[in-house]
Amino acid sequence: MSLYAIGDLHLHYQSVLKAPGQLHGRVWKNHEEKFRKYCGKMVTGEDTLVLVGDHSWGKNLSECERDLAYICDLPGRKLLFRGNHDMFWDAKKTAQLNERYQPRLTFLQDSYAAYQDYALVGTKGFTFEGPFYLDRYGQITGWDEEAFEHAKKLVERELARLRKSFEMAQADGYRKYIMFLHYPPTNILQTRSGFTDMAEEYGVEQVIYAHCHGESRFNDSIRGEYRGRMYQLVSGDFLRWKPLKILE
Ligand SMILES: [Fe+2]
Ligand SMILES: [Fe+2]
Repeated sequence: MSLYAIGDLHLHYQSVLKAPGQLHGRVWKNHEEKFRKYCGKMVTGEDTLVLVGDHSWGKNLSECERDLAYICDLPGRKLLFRGNHDMFWDAKKTAQLNERYQPRLTFLQDSYAAYQDYALVGTKGFTFEGPFYLDRYGQITGWDEEAFEHAKKLVERELARLRKSFEMAQADGYRKYIMFLHYPPTNILQTRSGFTDMAEEYGVEQVIYAHCHGESRFNDSIRGEYRGRMYQLVSGDFLRWKPLKILE
């Protein structure tokens, strides 16, 4: 029995693809097939596969049906967290999604899932991504204050959701945690954040995140061992569509 994770499948069987990188990048060519093949080789019916957001480009559920059917057909138990592009998934209507797709898919929002003696907690998260002002050497000299203030509110909301997820797991007796975020835990200006602080507060073993696409973004946040926790980026193009084994 193993636990795997990957993010950013960005499926578009029924919708318009909006990212130029995904249109022209080599890594994205037939990525659905590459990922399906890796899953077929690696993931068994007893395993759990966590999909860390940005599942589909569809604007609503009817534009995502084939994308979600593709995910349903992958092996193992599938757990999904929200990404910033998942327009089909209204956080407040997660129960309806679960009703519709149980037992094939589990959508996690303000809740957690158990894996052995671990609780898999998480939320979409948020990080401030600018606009930044640069000098002629490309160094950041400032940023858009209004966007920064707005980002702070979104971060607070996501931290509250994450804490709820931890508290539910803790109330049920869990003491070991793997934490999932769609956004990276820190933005490019930070070395720690409310998310890394919460990971430390609850003694999380691993923080798994996605969202960073393309070589130039893979080092936007923490990767590897940091202050006693392991941070791992699992965006699909970073992993080249091979799901990452998180736990045996
Ligand atoms: Fe993405
Ligand atoms: Fe994203």
